[in-house]
Amino acid sequence: MTQNQVEKIEPWRERWLIGRTGWDQGRPHHELERLLQQATREGRLPAGARIFSAGCGRAHNEAWLAGQGYQVDAMDAVPEAIEGARALYATQSGLNLAVADVFAANAPAAAYDAVFDRAMLCAIQPEHRATYIQRITSRLKPGGLVMAILFRRTRTPEGPPFAVDEAEAQRLFADQFDLCHASSCPPPPNPQNVLEEWLCIWRKRSL
Ligand SMILES: C[S@@+](CC[C@H](N)C(=O)[O-])C[C@H]1O[C@@H](n2cnc3c(N)ncnc32)[C@H](O)[C@@H]1O
Repeated sequence: MTQNQVEKIEPWRERWLIGRTGWDQGRPHHELERLLQQATREGRLPAGARIFSAGCGRAHNEAWLAGQGYQVDAMDAVPEAIEGARALYATQSGLNLAVADVFAANAPAAAYDAVFDRAMLCAIQPEHRATYIQRITSRLKPGGLVMAILFRRTRTPEGPPFAVDEAEAQRLFADQFDLCHASSCPPPPNPQNVLEEWLCIWRKRSL
């Protein structure tokens, strides 16, 4: 496993090895279907779109999206996470799983119609957010969407995870994206450290 100069991977690997993966609810997120409906209606996400997801963990969300007919490339930097995803979803058509680091430089440019994010932007160290946004933005086609489930409030403000509220999301996205949709989520069934979540969909501006 090569280490990037941004988010350290080893602490994430340790969490996977000892099973400290409280974010993993063993199934797709309870608001994923509504997020997709909003992306289709308000974001005009095309049928069969290519979707990219970094930090997919065991890829419950990504497998569900693939099951809806999308072409999903999902990656996680930790091999054990992807092994877990393959154990569950190896036969899911439309789902491509890879061990890879989103901060690595060799990303395919402007290849995707959408990026999906659940518990990645809110999981990484806050000082790495701008670099993460830059990495996912470069993968998006002009007009492409970021479809995100963000943590609005967490139990421990010092993190992890680290809340991203509307003001912080505006600060991160507004330069290059327009907001298509924002709404509150019902509370997560298994809250762990997350007290409140929200959905948002951003469209990358065409230059
Ligand atoms: C909080 S978990 C969220 C997992 C999944 N999205 C979910 O909702 O179940 C964050 C994931 O990001 C992965 N990760 C951390 N840094 C990464 C990086 N630089 N590139 C790709 N994945 C990374 C971790 O291994 C972990 O599985």
